[in-house]
Amino acid sequence: MPSALNQSGGSPLSLKVIGHNAGTSMDGVDLVHVHFTQDSPKTPLKMQLLHYGEYAMPKKLKARVMKLIKENKTTPEEMAIVNIQLGEVITDAVKWFAQENNFSLASDVDLIGGQGQTIWHLPLPELFEGNQSRAHLDMGEIAIIAAGTGVTSLGNFRVSDMALGRQGCPLFAALDSLLLSHPTLNRAVQNIGGIANFSILPRGAVEECYDFDTGPGNVFIDAAVRYFTNGQQEYDKNGAMGQKGKVDQSVVDRVLQGPYFVHDIPKTTGRETFGDRMAEDICDEMLARGATPEDCVATITRITAQSLADAYERWGPPGGVDEIYMGGGGSYNPNIINYLKERMPNTRIVPISEIGIPIGAKEALGFALLTHECFVGRPMIVPKRTESDYPGVVGQIQPGKNMHRIRQHVAQFWGDFPEEDVKCTTEMILLPSLCSS
Ligand SMILES: Nc1ncnc2c1ncn2[C@@H]1O[C@H](COP(=O)(O)OP(=O)(O)O)[C@@H](O)[C@H]1O
Ligand SMILES: [Mg+2]
Repeated sequence: MPSALNQSGGSPLSLKVIGHNAGTSMDGVDLVHVHFTQDSPKTPLKMQLLHYGEYAMPKKLKARVMKLIKENKTTPEEMAIVNIQLGEVITDAVKWFAQENNFSLASDVDLIGGQGQTIWHLPLPELFEGNQSRAHLDMGEIAIIAAGTGVTSLGNFRVSDMALGRQGCPLFAALDSLLLSHPTLNRAVQNIGGIANFSILPRGAVEECYDFDTGPGNVFIDAAVRYFTNGQQEYDKNGAMGQKGKVDQSVVDRVLQGPYFVHDIPKTTGRETFGDRMAEDICDEMLARGATPEDCVATITRITAQSLADAYERWGPPGGVDEIYMGGGGSYNPNIINYLKERMPNTRIVPISEIGIPIGAKEALGFALLTHECFVGRPMIVPKRTESDYPGVVGQIQPGKNMHRIRQHVAQFWGDFPEEDVKCTTEMILLPSLCSS
């Protein structure tokens, strides 16, 4: 052992990571390029966002994946092809991202990691009729990504978390708490993607965080808009369509009595529960009673908005939430945000860009952190109110051409730091971002 190494670790850590995320909306792959540094295992981890981008999901593949999930009937051949093609799309996205921002995959990226595309997420089979089993599957083959980029690539974080006894989702409480936990304010970080999730950060210790999915975010809205425009429009841009319609409160109230909404936390969900068909059924029922397409979109948007406000009341911290930091594409929909502001007049509701993180970047940033911590060999903070408090390291690693170099680098960082003292990161400093938010 070199003599410079001691029990507080060896040499400083410096790893550049691309985090990617293709969420439930399947609108695209969000990408971040992040620099993580740490002087020694006992000092705070530093995180700096270098670049952010979005790569549109090719329409043909999106349609193929949506069909696979919606119909829930497929062949091994179709599954195998989709897995490879998603890996190729993520590889293309990563290459485009580097080129667009003038950085090199060979010298400016040490790790690539993300969720791929969630194909199936069913953590609570008891909410379904029939003989369902607890299961999760993400696709986007990491062997393809590592081979195509040369960079060591990570994935399968969600199924890895599920294997430890939790639900594999939302998986962002650790990042949110490291970024925003506050000694005297109750805060929440809310992401309105296809599905909407919260991280609740009760005032005090960073480890007090907990997270869950509230239900649909944009999935129903997107499905309704696609339905009424024959697929010409993919979403309700700036809430324009919903704004013109009238909310049918009786439909909202009935839907919100459904089993998922009233189920206690921990809970997470996906398209298996809140799929396009459910949204289309709501539209058909309303149309039959004389509603306009705009009324349907307004009503479906209110289902999301009201479910968020209800969830804060049911599962928020005692005394309420002082501040909410919003992310995800639904943050751009005023029909959701204005309703939330009306229901929560004492809460400061702001976009997460207030702390320098672009609205669409937060979940990709979560995967960058998961990727980094997995490769360094640390577990993440385990959220409270989950089924298991076992703090395992989550994720799977596919070595790329750079594996030997980065493995040596991480070994030098740890030095002879005792294994039993390796704990999750509880202090992180967000350095000013180098890209605009
Ligand atoms: N300007 C906008 N107005 C209203 N909704 C928007 C806008 N921009 C994005 N969205 C919504 O956000 C969704 C994408 O959100 P995103 O955070 O990427 O979700 P996911 O993580 O599920 O991919 C789109 O499908 C759309 O419904
Ligand atoms: Mg998206």
